[in-house]
Amino acid sequence: MTTSFELPLWHDLHVHFRQGDIMPALIKDHLDMGCSTVLAMPNTKPPVAKVRQCDDLPYWSVEGYRDMIMQAGGDAFDDVIVPLYLTKDTTPAMIEDGAKAGLLKACKYYPPHGTTGADFSYPFEKFIENGVFAALQDHGVTLCIHGEEHGMEAEQYFDRKINAEEYFYQQRMPKLADSFPHLKVVGEHLTTKVGVDFIQSAGKNFAASVTPQHLIYTVGHLLKGLNYHLYCLPLVKYDEDRAALRAAVSAPDNTQFFAGTDSAPHVEKLTACGCAAGCYTGGIAPQLYAEAFEMAGVDLSQDAGQTLFSNFITNIGGAFYGLPTPQDTFTLVREPSEVCMLQTDAGTVTPLPKGMSTDERVSMKWSIRR
Ligand code: DOR
Ligand code: ZN
Ligand code: ZN
Repeated sequence: MTTSFELPLWHDLHVHFRQGDIMPALIKDHLDMGCSTVLAMPNTKPPVAKVRQCDDLPYWSVEGYRDMIMQAGGDAFDDVIVPLYLTKDTTPAMIEDGAKAGLLKACKYYPPHGTTGADFSYPFEKFIENGVFAALQDHGVTLCIHGEEHGMEAEQYFDRKINAEEYFYQQRMPKLADSFPHLKVVGEHLTTKVGVDFIQSAGKNFAASVTPQHLIYTVGHLLKGLNYHLYCLPLVKYDEDRAALRAAVSAPDNTQFFAGTDSAPHVEKLTACGCAAGCYTGGIAPQLYAEAFEMAGVDLSQDAGQTLFSNFITNIGGAFYGLPTPQDTFTLVREPSEVCMLQTDAGTVTPLPKGMSTDERVSMKWSIRR
């Protein structure tokens, strides 16, 4: 008998919807795959780095970007969380005002120049000195962190003994936890065992989002054939790291690791000098997560396995951000489904599984029914 199970709509708590002509197709893909609430990242052009539209700063606002996404989705999302991009212009007063007005649930830290769209970022320690992190803690605003050290020498950036994420979780995170014991923190797109161990040893005010690609692949998949569609930041890591992530997301007592796809479309993935970082998994993420859970040894034909899965994609992140459990449902069926290129008004986007294969037709093990 074919395995199939029904579950509440889910929350993608880390996604990139960009701006302009590409946006409607991305949002449609997310709604089609059963997303109820999304946390839409602010590394747009211009970045979402002020709270209110009327603020006199040359950025987009949390208010305006949230409305833009809601409207483009025909008001079909239950909620859209837009974190404020932390820049040199962010002040504690801005955080307090945004939180009190109910406009600000989260902020995003990017390592300066460390990844796509991180040009407006500001060094981590500055936010400790200028009171911004303290204001987040005082007003119950979550700090979403791209947890990689910036400005590292190549020898440390990715090596067997250390990499940019490990350095960040060994050097920065413990100090953050000590200095702000009540701050709510999400380690975004976690990739290493060091990161997993840190989150598990930290308080329940720490959580982490985990992508499909970091559960499915290792750096060997990226390097073997130089499959650049798998190039994202943080980089996919080693088998041991992937095993730690798989164990964390599928643990019966998991309350800290939840779904955040980091779906990040790039119409021009290869550039004149290198490659844009980001994997596109819109439209196919629950199917890929289901495959990853099976790889982690979870039996999705059984109630117990289905509960672990539903906790990961809906309940744990929902509890962290205080979201209600969606009333509507969708169904996952263990039947092959084909992955198609995404045509947008800004160009074609290659979904990750298509980019990992030279076959004309590429399919996943799972399908979705709405
Ligand atoms: O791979 C990534 N892509 N990592 C990020 O942190 C940003 C994202 C993007 O916006 O393309
Ligand atoms: Zn990131
Ligand atoms: Zn991201």
